[in-house]
Amino acid sequence: MAKQVGGLRQLFLEELQDLFDAEKQLVRALPKMAKSATDTELESAFREHLEVTRGQVERLEQIFESMDSRARSTPCRGMKGIVEEGAEIMGEGRGERLLDSAIAASGRKVEHYEMMGYEAARSIAQQLGMREAAQLLQETLREEMQADRQLAQISKRLLKESGRRSMEAGSETRRATRKSSRGRTTQPKRAARSTSRTSSRS
Ligand SMILES: [Fe+2]
Repeated sequence: MAKQVGGLRQLFLEELQDLFDAEKQLVRALPKMAKSATDTELESAFREHLEVTRGQVERLEQIFESMDSRARSTPCRGMKGIVEEGAEIMGEGRGERLLDSAIAASGRKVEHYEMMGYEAARSIAQQLGMREAAQLLQETLREEMQADRQLAQISKRLLKESGRRSMEAGSETRRATRKSSRGRTTQPKRAARSTSRTSSRS
């Protein structure tokens, strides 16, 4: 039985180390995401979340301390992958609204990944009877959910805007096509007339 509790405590520490690394990766990635966003609301959402993330790092340090454990991180490959994909998206040449939509979606992937990590860690803390740690993790979980909701709202607006723009661009193209095709139908007619005149003369 004692071995089982030790195992759970070890698992908890590993989850914390993973989350610690994930948050530190985000402290580096969020300024880049904010810089790449062209929409001001999206940019400030990332900047605000950077501050929130710094607080989350501190909360994790607090939990490590309460367990008399050194705050250390183990590489979180999951977050690394999501951040790398996000960086690729930021480098792709797209229209402003579409680029912002893609960055917002990438941000939501980050939040969902973190939400699952914090939910798992909080459940373990509850199981270990570590009420304070569970509360701290719950607080971070609440912040991640809030960030996700905010990004979802921004994303919805951006998609509506890019949808409207592509419809407008579509009708512009249709108008231009109609105009040029009218021009084109007149040309061949004249050409046809001149050809028939030439051929009748010969
Ligand atoms: Fe976070």
